[in-house]
Amino acid sequence: MEEDRLISPEISDISEERLENSLRPKKLEEYIGQDKVKENLKVYIEAAKKRGEPLDHVLLYGPPGLGKTTLSNIISNEMNSNIKITSGPAIEKPGDLAALLTNLSEFDVLFIDEIHRLNKSVEEILYPALEDYTLDIMIGKGPSARSIRLDLPKFTLIGATTKAGSLATPLRDRFGIVNRLELYNTKDLTTIVTRSAGILEVNIDHDSAIEIAKRSRGTPRIANRLLKRVRDYASVLGNGDITLDITKIALNKLEIDDRGLDDIDRRILETMIIRYQGRPVGIETIATTIGEEADTVEDVYEPYLIQIGFIARTVRGRIPLPAAYEHIGVKFEG
Ligand code: ADE
Repeated sequence: MEEDRLISPEISDISEERLENSLRPKKLEEYIGQDKVKENLKVYIEAAKKRGEPLDHVLLYGPPGLGKTTLSNIISNEMNSNIKITSGPAIEKPGDLAALLTNLSEFDVLFIDEIHRLNKSVEEILYPALEDYTLDIMIGKGPSARSIRLDLPKFTLIGATTKAGSLATPLRDRFGIVNRLELYNTKDLTTIVTRSAGILEVNIDHDSAIEIAKRSRGTPRIANRLLKRVRDYASVLGNGDITLDITKIALNKLEIDDRGLDDIDRRILETMIIRYQGRPVGIETIATTIGEEADTVEDVYEPYLIQIGFIARTVRGRIPLPAAYEHIGVKFEG
């Protein structure tokens, strides 16, 4: 019994992760939305394959949960190559990156998530690697130290970031393909929810799929997460089929309102509207007031609030817009 309790959380994490993976499209043609990015990539991939060359280095940027990792896996599948996945903070020293690069095979994809968090000293090793597939490493220390140059296999770097603005210009300039991922519209998210329900083998009616899509803040990762929680309610409250009634009950229990906003979004809006009375306010101030990191507010919450016209960025700070007042039930006196 004791042992069961100890191992079960891990088991459920693993199965959750497997489920997550099973929902991820493997081919470009299965990938829903981001049409411009998809069309461009399709051409570049086909052209690179025709030339028998690796794909140029790719930078993907945009809010979290939009499928940067998924897309990178798809790119490597479409190129019939292998992918190695790491992240900016995981590569601590130049030697870590050197080890990764020298272990690549020709045409491999190296995916670096959160690439804006790479160390300066690591970044410098990356430049010649990206430019002409060479690695300059120092051997030894002091007067006898010398630099040797190694040839690397021709590879493709895919960098992902939520903050293209914090990328050093020399790094940004070394990506031949730069794509911004946009928040998804309700129609595409509805298609994603319906597709995922099919993979999870759960029946869902169209209205329920739309309802989940509308409350997913433009983000497939959130849509899939909500779908799984709604599925739980459907199996406990009903016969397992997802209906609109059950969907609404589940989403209300999760405290996600009809615009997809959660508790933190609402606290952001209340801070701006009630505490600062609609005056322009900086992201740091908002974050401190609600006890969140400024980066989280800026990267995770703000893009959706801007997209739905609840807040705007001005030179003097963020301001709440009339729709936000209406949403939290405060009269707008612009
Ligand atoms: N699951 C998560 N993101 C997806 C996408 N863009 N297309 C299809 N399924 C997805």
